[in-house]
Amino acid sequence: MNWFTKTFSSTIGRKIIMSITGLFLCSFLVVHLIGNLQLFKDDGGAAFNIYSHFMGTNPVIRTMEFVLLAGFVFHIWDAIALTRRNKAARPVGYANSHPEQNSNWSSRNMGLLGTVILVFLIIHLYNFFIPTKTGELGPVMIDGMEYDNLYVKVVEAFQNPLYVALYVISMIALAFHLIHGFQSAFQSLGLTHKKYTPFIQKFGVAFSVLVCLGFAIMPLYFFFFL
Ligand code: HEM
Repeated sequence: MNWFTKTFSSTIGRKIIMSITGLFLCSFLVVHLIGNLQLFKDDGGAAFNIYSHFMGTNPVIRTMEFVLLAGFVFHIWDAIALTRRNKAARPVGYANSHPEQNSNWSSRNMGLLGTVILVFLIIHLYNFFIPTKTGELGPVMIDGMEYDNLYVKVVEAFQNPLYVALYVISMIALAFHLIHGFQSAFQSLGLTHKKYTPFIQKFGVAFSVLVCLGFAIMPLYFFFFL
């Protein structure tokens, strides 16, 4: 095993990869949320369809899709590897352990929260991302040009109460996952400082709540107001 493989398959190496990929996925969430805000424009979906056409055809964005996929794969892979290593190191828990007294609920349930997010992601990609690649979306004319009508697909999905519930529950899970994950990433990267860490923790909470609230409002808006 060379030093590279050795370093990145060690516990600390895997934690570093999880932190970097986690923060990278956070930046994706911000871009995705800002892009999706086009859904709120009162223009019959024109801005949103033009935006998703750009995202689906721009070569830089298309290349970033592979980086994004790699980010998800490494993040999930390392999470599984670390969980298995922790379990193998301590198959029987401490007799006198009271984890609820020295850690919070989300930090102890990152695996469960991550699994909810993964299930959400699979359903989400199947519903919205795959149709953009298979040519099954209906056409719409905007300013004399033909676009795929992804807007109608989103509006239709959010008329279904099951999808709305799935999105809202998943965004609650994502919020808890991020609240712990954000500050934990800085800790694993060794970026702790008694002056800045309290700010990073507060920023992490505000970031997680705002981003997830932004996503959750979308299905609720289409279900109740359209
Ligand atoms: C209500 C909230 C959301 C809506 C309306 C939404 C909508 C969409 C749509 C329409 C697409 C397909 C094409 C495009 O990029 O424009 C897409 C792709 C995608 N979404 Fe979402 N999304 C939401 C939340 C999320 C969340 C919370 C995550 C991550 C946990 C996520 C992850 C992705 C990924 C990875 C893709 C494929 C890559 C890409 O196209 O950039 N989405 N989403």
